[in-house]
Amino acid sequence: MKLFDKIGREFSGYNILESGKRLIDRKPLQCSLYVTDRCNLDCAYCTEYDNSRPHPSLDDLKKWIRKIRELGTMRIALVGGEPLVHPNIVELVRYCRELGFATSLTTNGFLLTRKLLAELEDAGLQVMQISVDRMTPSPITKKSFKTILPKLDYFRDSKISLHITGVICADTLPESRAVLETGLSRGIPTEVRLVHADPLQRFRVDRGPREELESFIDSMIERKRRGEKIHTSEAILNYQRSLLRGEHVEWTCMAGYKLFFVSAQGKFWICSMVHTDKHIMDVTLDDLYANYRKKSCQEGCGVYCAVSASLLVEKPVHVLGKEIVARAKRIPSMVRRSLTPDSDKATHGTMRNADGTHEMNGSTKSGPSADNGVSLRKSA
Ligand SMILES: C[S@@+](CC[C@H](N)C(=O)[O-])C[C@H]1O[C@@H](n2cnc3c(N)ncnc32)[C@H](O)[C@@H]1O
Ligand code: SF4
Ligand code: SF4
Repeated sequence: MKLFDKIGREFSGYNILESGKRLIDRKPLQCSLYVTDRCNLDCAYCTEYDNSRPHPSLDDLKKWIRKIRELGTMRIALVGGEPLVHPNIVELVRYCRELGFATSLTTNGFLLTRKLLAELEDAGLQVMQISVDRMTPSPITKKSFKTILPKLDYFRDSKISLHITGVICADTLPESRAVLETGLSRGIPTEVRLVHADPLQRFRVDRGPREELESFIDSMIERKRRGEKIHTSEAILNYQRSLLRGEHVEWTCMAGYKLFFVSAQGKFWICSMVHTDKHIMDVTLDDLYANYRKKSCQEGCGVYCAVSASLLVEKPVHVLGKEIVARAKRIPSMVRRSLTPDSDKATHGTMRNADGTHEMNGSTKSGPSADNGVSLRKSA
């Protein structure tokens, strides 16, 4: 890819006009739609799957997707359960794109094949988040690079932007640094984030030692400031550090307003943790606006996509400014690389895959994501 294209892609996540509209009007920025509750794995920290439930039908999902668009929502994140177990996932992506959504999909990647990726790309999928918690599977989580590394090659010429997200808990912490390095060293925007708070004690995991977690977050803040492709915004890294320190953070939760969730039964959910019985088909813009308020569950909230979108809407200049500065710091290394003869590039391990293949396509931009309300990209 040419140097100017690469630099352009670095900032293409910021469609200022389109996202700017959502910062000043009353319409929602993003919806996360559970396309199924079913999942092929059973991560010990997860409360978001239920194999006793059938997939929602394609017709129902399409009806809900139309309604979500009618509300003015700009981006849709297809989540679950595991979205790739839904038999109509490609058609759903195509439908979202036809309606004009910026579309992402979050997956554990186990069912991803080269053919399926090509079909999703053809359907118009823009962003894929693959969840990777460890280098090797454990009884707590099977989402590891052992499964995903061989699949990264599928993205080499793909238009789909890939990013990698891991959960940090006591089980994964000893490998979280390696997960981060493995993703970053391949040029893939990568993040590892603290497991959500567990007020109802439903998870089967420990969070991990506070001091170690804090020093890890500190190191990521430093690397982010240096311009490394850590996918989390600095605002959310700082937020996670405050959570660990038990510090109060001043913010207003925009969940249920600027972002919301729709369950696999079509129910309107404020966020992944706070559910309502109202059907999405009955939701109005006034209902959404009524959720523009501080929430009683804010203290210690670990729904980072909601925190992220809320901070963005509250302080757009501050949040976007820092992200743009971090990305701008990548430009000198791109220029240096573009001036390096091809024969020398093979020695630059940070720009190539460890197996010697090319830098991943899609690695230079971030986009709509189930868990990222900060980096905004072009809508369709
Ligand atoms: C619920 S999963 C659904 C999509 C897909 N099955 C997957 O694992 O990527 C969406 C994201 O939420 C993350 N997640 C699930 N439970 C979590 C928790 N308790 N704390 C933090 N992240 C969590 C997963 O690791 C994944 O990145
Ligand atoms: S995190 Fe994803 S892969 Fe793991 S159990 Fe939950 S839905 Fe399934
Ligand atoms: S504060 Fe957190 S848990 Fe409560 S509604 Fe907002 S996002 Fe959901």
